[in-house]
Amino acid sequence: MMSSPPPRTPTVAARATDLSKVYGQGDTRVVALDRVSVGFERSRFTAIMGPSGSGKSTLMHCVAGLDSFSSGSVHVGDVELGALTDRQLTRLRRDKVGFVFQAFNLLPTLTALENITLPMDIAGRTADKEWLDGVIRMVGLSGRLGHRPAQLSGGQQQRVAVARALASRPEIVFGDEPTGNLDSRAGAEILGFLRDSVRTLGQTVVMVTHDPVAASYADRVVFLVDGRIVDEMYEPSADGVLELMKSFDTPRFRAS
Ligand SMILES: Nc1ncnc2c1ncn2[C@@H]1O[C@H](COP(=O)(O)OP(=O)(O)OP(=O)(O)O)[C@@H](O)[C@H]1O
Ligand SMILES: [Mg+2]
Repeated sequence: MMSSPPPRTPTVAARATDLSKVYGQGDTRVVALDRVSVGFERSRFTAIMGPSGSGKSTLMHCVAGLDSFSSGSVHVGDVELGALTDRQLTRLRRDKVGFVFQAFNLLPTLTALENITLPMDIAGRTADKEWLDGVIRMVGLSGRLGHRPAQLSGGQQQRVAVARALASRPEIVFGDEPTGNLDSRAGAEILGFLRDSVRTLGQTVVMVTHDPVAASYADRVVFLVDGRIVDEMYEPSADGVLELMKSFDTPRFRAS
């Protein structure tokens, strides 16, 4: 079922090596990540899939520098996160990483444009105007920049969130179920924008999703079960992903 990888070997925007994350202890001990090694290739769209509780969000949060881990290492570009102070980690998140969450996380009192540039405003940076204009055009928000979130549809709000994640031209953009709160049409739009940002702007995108159709927008899908990577697929189709996910319910993957 594993398809062959593409011929060239691209560089990696972020990677986890032997990454483990354990929550709690004794009776409440949960191994959320169990020695995961995975690289996220630059200018590629990677989806992370797996059953609920398999560690998808944990993996994303650890690689994005949002959460600590128990052992192993994480690199964003050449930087090893474990070697950073809290302050350096905050700066790395701010400068190198963009996020799109399931809940759009926009500030209600700010306009769409103010929301998009907020992270840069906080960091005291000015946007590269050409890049920012390109991002805003791509997500089709040009006529809505003065609107507040409450004046926008859910899909439009998520487009603002996508533009915000891309605005600073980060090394890597992470999405945790970024289409989870949208109907299928609005979801398809957002997925199309994420894919376009990879194809036309050379962005690197990593997205957690439950949805085989969403995963089919990616160049590659990695599958987690019980905190381990059990398979991956290149150029995935929704049907292929669905087929593979069904096989994860078999005892082979449940045994530990
Ligand atoms: N703060 C926490 N304390 C204890 N256990 C946790 C905590 N956060 C997550 N876990 C456990 O770690 C495991 C992985 O959780 P995670 O949120 O990464 O799963 P997921 O694959 O994102 O699931 P979902 O698809 O439901 O979002 C789960 O068993 C979960 O119960
Ligand atoms: Mg999750």
